Amino acid sequence: MMSPKMTDALNQQINEEYFSNYIYLAMAAYLEDMDLEGMAHWMRMQAQEEYLHAMKIFDYMIERGARVELKPVAAPPKEWESPLAAFEAALEHEQYMTGNINTLADLAINERDHATNNVLQWYVTEQVEEEANVDSIVKKLKMMGGGGQGLFMMDRELASRPMPTIVEGAGGA
Ligand code: FEO
Repeated sequence: MMSPKMTDALNQQINEEYFSNYIYLAMAAYLEDMDLEGMAHWMRMQAQEEYLHAMKIFDYMIERGARVELKPVAAPPKEWESPLAAFEAALEHEQYMTGNINTLADLAINERDHATNNVLQWYVTEQVEEEANVDSIVKKLKMMGGGGQGLFMMDRELASRPMPTIVEGAGGA
């Protein structure tokens, strides 16, 4: 049986993943407003990925007989200074999420909850990919100077991001 402490912490993480979904949708809306449809598409796909992250914990908790509790999702920001600033904020957010996952894994180890730790290790690996993906976009945007031509090129490149599924990346579902 999952401990109440672990149950609370996983419920909190479901909320964090839903907030991530929301923040990327807000970034998609901001980029759509600038007619950067490729970048907005990338953010929409990222939002979908966050929904899958939330649902993976949701399904795992149900499998373990732990009670899922959904909490209110905070409103994300609406504006960023520039598309580069939005992607920089995305990178900062992923670094924050990595911290959350590491704290959860520490808790699972302390609680001797090996099954939960095993699930969390999937997220540990996933976060490496999450940070690397955004970091690469931030670096390219900076190299291109964040200006018109560079934005146009990145917008075209990011338009091809495929729809994520939970089996992609390390570990599978
Ligand atoms: Fe679910 Fe992007 O971390």
